[in-house]
Amino acid sequence: MKRRSALKLFGGALVVAAGGAGYFASTRTPALALAPWQMAGDPGFIDPRMRALSYAVLAPNPHNRQPWLIELDDESGLTLRFDQSRQLPYTDPFDRQLTIGLGCFLELLKMAANADGQRADVNLFPEGSSAEGLNDAPVAEIHFSEDSSVTADPLWLNVLKRRTNKSPFDTSRQISSESLESVIGIAVNGTTLGGTVDESEVAGWRETTERALAIEIETPHTYKESVDLFRIGKQEVEANPDGIDFSGPLFEALHVVGAFSREAALDTDSATYKQGMDAVLQNCRTAMGVVWMTTQGNSRQDQIAAGGDWLRVNLACTAIGLGFQPLSQALQEYPEMQSLYQQTHQQLAPQGSTVQMLARIGYGDTIAPSPRWPVESRIAG
Ligand SMILES: Cc1cc2nc3c(=O)[nH]c(=O)nc-3n(C[C@H](O)[C@H](O)[C@H](O)COP(=O)(O)O)c2cc1C
Repeated sequence: MKRRSALKLFGGALVVAAGGAGYFASTRTPALALAPWQMAGDPGFIDPRMRALSYAVLAPNPHNRQPWLIELDDESGLTLRFDQSRQLPYTDPFDRQLTIGLGCFLELLKMAANADGQRADVNLFPEGSSAEGLNDAPVAEIHFSEDSSVTADPLWLNVLKRRTNKSPFDTSRQISSESLESVIGIAVNGTTLGGTVDESEVAGWRETTERALAIEIETPHTYKESVDLFRIGKQEVEANPDGIDFSGPLFEALHVVGAFSREAALDTDSATYKQGMDAVLQNCRTAMGVVWMTTQGNSRQDQIAAGGDWLRVNLACTAIGLGFQPLSQALQEYPEMQSLYQQTHQQLAPQGSTVQMLARIGYGDTIAPSPRWPVESRIAG
């Protein structure tokens, strides 16, 4: 539920709350939570690993949990581990999506290193991994070395502009099939990308993604998992710059007058719940194209590869001005979603591969960056 929907949603309360609130509004940007976007690549980071990590923390990741923990080893190595306190036990019971987020992180780390004249050699799961879930064993060991032959990836230019667009797309602007082809031709990590901009196919996906989102919201424990991660207003966002961000003067004013809160969002009889549900479903209805990704296996290595290529698709969309929002609900592994999970797999992976990601694409508003923990806070020791 983003700004435009909320204006419609809580209009009455807002008029009261926002009257004469210009100064208030100007002070409500959570500047500290957004600072990592300004700090990326800062020359104050003398160590090339820190320069690369300062970009990697900007990677897309589920519910913005930022599940990465770093140890700097000797002079030129680092170890990436999974932060188990960041799990999403109901919507991601096997940590599949969180592993994809770690794959996005590693791809961005490599890109940043290369743009800085460094090689980053990655050794995945040196102590093995489990299909049940991630534990505290290393996800990857990475070794940095100077290399004058490495060059910046062409997608690198888009890294600081990349966003997840959680607002409606412009339904009067079609996406050309050439644009779609350019975006799904970008994989380098062995995954398979597909997509459609065909009107009737997109209509089917609008319906599927909307149904899946409704199931997630109508299933009490999966919905509560998200609501518990709502960060409402500057103070909450800056105290915990992760999760689902509702910052800015609008949400803050609504919060102050009691028109928007976690309690109201959980009350299925409240206007907040009903109109919030409508706002997020409305986003699905504005998909102008759909992109998906499959992998032949579903090992942890496959999931990391999926993250790498998924980051690339997101960047490729950014490069041509296309808005991009993953809609993961139909791919989630809990009993209430089983029938839509199977339907989606029959449709996109009839040979038995795994559908790792699904997103809607379209042209939309310019989106602000989302909060991040500072890179230093993710380094152990
Ligand atoms: C594996 C994965 C699954 C995601 N699923 C969703 C989703 O279902 N809905 C959504 O709005 N965003 C989804 N996202 C995007 C994240 O919410 C987003 O990356 C995060 O909030 C940080 O925002 P940013 O991408 O704008 O930096 C997903 C991202 C990843 C990597």
